[in-house]
Amino acid sequence: MYAHLFSPYKIDGLELPNRLTMAPLYLGYAAAGGAVSPLLLDHYRLMAQSGVALVMVENATIDHPTGSGSDRTLRADSDDYLEGLATLARVIKQQGARAGLQINHAGRFAGVALQPLAPSAVETFGRQPRALSLEEMQKIACQYAQAARRVQQAGFDLVELHGGTGYLLAQFVSPRTNHRADDYGGPLENRQKFPLEVVAQVKAAVADFPVGYRFLADEWLPDGLLLAESGRFAQALAQAGVAYLSVMGGTYESFFLPQIVEKSKQAGYMVDLAAAIKGQVKVPVITAGRIATGALAEEILERGRADLIGLARVLWADPDWPRKVQQARESEIIHCDPGCDTCMQMVMRGKPAFCVRWPVEKMRTWKTKFL
Ligand SMILES: Cc1cc2nc3c(=O)[nH]c(=O)nc-3n(C[C@H](O)[C@H](O)[C@H](O)COP(=O)(O)O)c2cc1C
Repeated sequence: MYAHLFSPYKIDGLELPNRLTMAPLYLGYAAAGGAVSPLLLDHYRLMAQSGVALVMVENATIDHPTGSGSDRTLRADSDDYLEGLATLARVIKQQGARAGLQINHAGRFAGVALQPLAPSAVETFGRQPRALSLEEMQKIACQYAQAARRVQQAGFDLVELHGGTGYLLAQFVSPRTNHRADDYGGPLENRQKFPLEVVAQVKAAVADFPVGYRFLADEWLPDGLLLAESGRFAQALAQAGVAYLSVMGGTYESFFLPQIVEKSKQAGYMVDLAAAIKGQVKVPVITAGRIATGALAEEILERGRADLIGLARVLWADPDWPRKVQQARESEIIHCDPGCDTCMQMVMRGKPAFCVRWPVEKMRTWKTKFL
């Protein structure tokens, strides 16, 4: 049963016993200020015990506070956080899973009081970011490299650059948010230059350590980056030596549009994007987005639409998902409700999230300990 899903795979020499990965999921579990907390460790221990081959930890900032999504965004911007990150990596790996950490600069979506930084001064939910100077871009590329070096030093198995959700790297590639008149704006070849420079600097800093990329294939906005163009960027990233592309769609400016809300309720709603990108590159491709059944996951792999499956809310709602699928107990799975966005609402209000589908006892224990 599900011969593809439970078959081994390798990312850049890193052996994975099956095709299941945890996709990055920010839940507001770090301590206020961004340190690794007991709640965060408990959460990732549980995720790693689930049987997925790889746990990709949520985004950690490379530049605090200017690049942080929120006050509870993990920090990889200073050696002061190394020890906490090392504990996190150890906790995940002790459960038998591979551990990765995603690093990010939120750019115009930074959740801090300061004026946000961005490729261009394009208004963002009523705030006016400031366009980055060339010197500031160089500094940010260097901060990515230093953060990646910390991820390696902390004992993770790989680092992922967050090029999705409309954060800084995606803001450079997007014609909607990059209006620069210098060499970093204009045609795709210029807009993709900064993310490619970041990849090059990160790879130089960590030598043969795998560097993955969360890849925005389509912003789902008419004037944004579209699939027609992003395939060329995917090829450039593959050429630059990324270990894999973890494909997603949408940004904070499209996620809440009524038609995208509807689309995002569908099973496998981002698989088409992953399959389109997979057709253009040789590096492994990960797909996520309401892959709620073993049958769907198996079909994606069998048809060659992606190489690995990403589970975010799916796994958080039921950490026994991999076991239940493998043991033909799928009727027992606790499913994330496509009509519910409580977790998103909670994290946007700066609160640690819980899943309304959790069994009563689990919810009670969680609330006693953490609210
Ligand atoms: C509350 C929330 C937080 C997320 N945090 C991240 C993140 O830190 N980094 C990232 O690349 N994607 C993030 N995502 C996107 C997920 O990785 C995933 O692509 C998406 O939730 C679809 O998978 P799912 O249906 O299994 O949840 C987040 C999604 C949600 C709902």
